[in-house]
Amino acid sequence: MSAEVAAPPAPRGARAPATTPAAATPPVTPAPPGHGLTSLGRILRTNRTAYTKLVRFYRATARARAADAPVLLEPVLAAARERSGDVDSVLELGCADGVFTSWLTREDLAVTAVEFSARMRWAARRRLRADHAPAGRVTILPHEFHNGGEPLPPLAGRRFDVVLAMAFVHLFPAGTDLEVLRQIGRHLTPGGVAFLTTTVEAQDRRGFERKEGPHGSRVRYRSRYTAASFVELVNLAGLEVRDKQYRVDPRIEGKTWLDVIVGHPGDALRPARSGPVASLLEASVHGGA
Ligand SMILES: C[S@@+](CC[C@H](N)C(=O)[O-])C[C@H]1O[C@@H](n2cnc3c(N)ncnc32)[C@H](O)[C@@H]1O
Repeated sequence: MSAEVAAPPAPRGARAPATTPAAATPPVTPAPPGHGLTSLGRILRTNRTAYTKLVRFYRATARARAADAPVLLEPVLAAARERSGDVDSVLELGCADGVFTSWLTREDLAVTAVEFSARMRWAARRRLRADHAPAGRVTILPHEFHNGGEPLPPLAGRRFDVVLAMAFVHLFPAGTDLEVLRQIGRHLTPGGVAFLTTTVEAQDRRGFERKEGPHGSRVRYRSRYTAASFVELVNLAGLEVRDKQYRVDPRIEGKTWLDVIVGHPGDALRPARSGPVASLLEASVHGGA
């Protein structure tokens, strides 16, 4: 386990590349003309529409993602407990259909989720009911999270032991992604940690992309980072990487995820406990969203 940035591993069973094993990325089709304007408003509207259309895809993968939840999230909770003791509260950004939200509430955590797609919020409520999750432990805010680096008014002054931003930061353009990370940092309790996931790319690039899927194609905006530039962005936002792992997505060939646990530099480590602390490196999962 290391907070250094290393080249991501080749997928298990894959032939090792001859040169530096930069992350393989499935080919991405640039979006058709008309998506060239990259105003923030246009990006956010496009992404909201894309995820609203993706509810069916999320339904199809819910079972596998539910199995991933403890594998991915237990090390994150352990990292927060290591520094801040009890962990009670979680802020989840872009909760989508609520698979992770449901697992967290059933772990007895109080979850505040932010999700700007009404259909995703509907799917999340349905998931919580189906799982008999304790409804009183969840609040889903129907908001766009980005607020220029400042907390959203309903979250003003609120701090959480854990912030989850899985497959989230990379949905924003240059500069806005940094503000989103700063916003995340403002919501951490002393000793709190954030969990960030993104795909690893051979080179940085950004733009509207057309993504083909089993339920049709949709256009969305993505920032794509090398592992080094994502970590650099995290550091620029005043956060440090505590732990990281690379995860090969078995559902999409050539897709590798970078998962990082981050916190504020200088948060003191609590005295070591006797038992082993779960590590991200122990995770073996079905892949991310
Ligand atoms: C890629 S999905 C990730 C879902 C979930 N975090 C996971 O890892 O399975 C991103 C989710 O965030 C929501 N979302 C994207 N941008 C958002 C924004 N600016 N504010 C609030 N929600 C947003 C989308 O509607 C979608 O449900």
